[in-house]
Amino acid sequence: MSGRPRVVLGVGGGIAAYKACEVLRRLTESGHHVRVVPTEAALRFVGAATFEALSGNKVHTGVFSDVPEVPHVRLGQEADLVLVVPATADLLARAAHGMADDLLTGTLLTARCPVLMVPAMHTEMWEHPATRANVATLRERGTVVTEPASGRLTGADTGKGRLADPAEIVDLARLLLHRGDALPRDLDGVRVVVSAGGTREPLDPVRYLGNRSSGKQGYALARTAAQRGAHVTLVSAHTLALPEPAGVDLVRAGTALQLRDAVHAAAEHADVVVMAAAVADFRPVAAAEYKIKKTERDPDPVALTRNPDVLAELVTARGNGKLPADQVIVGFAAETGDSGADVLDHARAKLRRKGCDLLVVNAVGEGKAFETEDNAGWLLAASGAERPIALGSKAQLATEVWDAVVGLLKR
Ligand code: CTP
Repeated sequence: MSGRPRVVLGVGGGIAAYKACEVLRRLTESGHHVRVVPTEAALRFVGAATFEALSGNKVHTGVFSDVPEVPHVRLGQEADLVLVVPATADLLARAAHGMADDLLTGTLLTARCPVLMVPAMHTEMWEHPATRANVATLRERGTVVTEPASGRLTGADTGKGRLADPAEIVDLARLLLHRGDALPRDLDGVRVVVSAGGTREPLDPVRYLGNRSSGKQGYALARTAAQRGAHVTLVSAHTLALPEPAGVDLVRAGTALQLRDAVHAAAEHADVVVMAAAVADFRPVAAAEYKIKKTERDPDPVALTRNPDVLAELVTARGNGKLPADQVIVGFAAETGDSGADVLDHARAKLRRKGCDLLVVNAVGEGKAFETEDNAGWLLAASGAERPIALGSKAQLATEVWDAVVGLLKR
């Protein structure tokens, strides 16, 4: 891809069309060249002037404007990504049937780049057999159709059908632009558990022992697995304010012990468990019932006790037949290296010690990995295979982890 990535942003006629403006703003601000192609119906929700001002480009909906430029062919041919936000039931149907009755559907037919459709509609419409069939057809053909989020819909309704969070949409769009290809549906039906974030071990009602994990890597793992077709349970400890990944079951856990219980429960029926959470190795022996006053305690360190090693426990439980024998277990290691050994030496020893199938190794310290957008590292397999992971977004790293997991799944 040379120059600025070219994105066609199709906007369908649904109430979530206003959220396409946020997606557009994020894309243009991060250096993408965006042409917005709304449907006629979309313009009843958001005016063309908004899309033109935010994109810096003219907006057309029909095939009869700028005819000499043949935009219905050109836009699709020249795009690096076609992104549809929101994809309504009607748009999904027209796309699945290869219709070309407006500029957007014409563009979808001529596009040879990745196509990402982000649905939003009422639960009944999403669950209707016609929509299910259209989504299946589009996915079979390589279009990435995300799962809608659950929550408040138009009016008083709640349920599945909300548009995914704009930040999440842009993250996925960037991943597809980077790959230049659709995400494979190679985790279809696979049951995945991902733990994310950092645990907090309470000292008293207001203080805790915590760590700097943002949760971004674990959330990226959950999100990309769901996009590849997996049923995902995300066990989330404390994170920065992150959008809930659409189409994922979210279980909250605060402390190491809570996270352990939630992971074990979900792992019972899982094909894959990925421990991306930063679990505190120690916790205060007892949390004070009331806020500790400085006059009450001398500056001695708080008495601590060891937390269970959840990852090691999972491996043991699999060995004892308490978890599925062919379950794939993935660990993470954040290493700094020290005078005695480098990052990889520590990681190889950790892989042996933990007994998991894959270990994702991040070099940390000096601003690397924690709270950043990008990650790099190595992927070490129990088989002895080792390969570096180039610096890239956390979603890119996540896809490399899933590529390796797919190779280990016994199906
Ligand atoms: N982990 C876990 N339970 C713990 C600590 C860590 O399940 N109590 C998991 C993490 O989720 C991660 C992996 O173990 O997948 C490695 O975590 P790390 O903190 O690097 O490993 P430790 O065993 O704590 O090793 P170290 O001696 O380097 O602290």
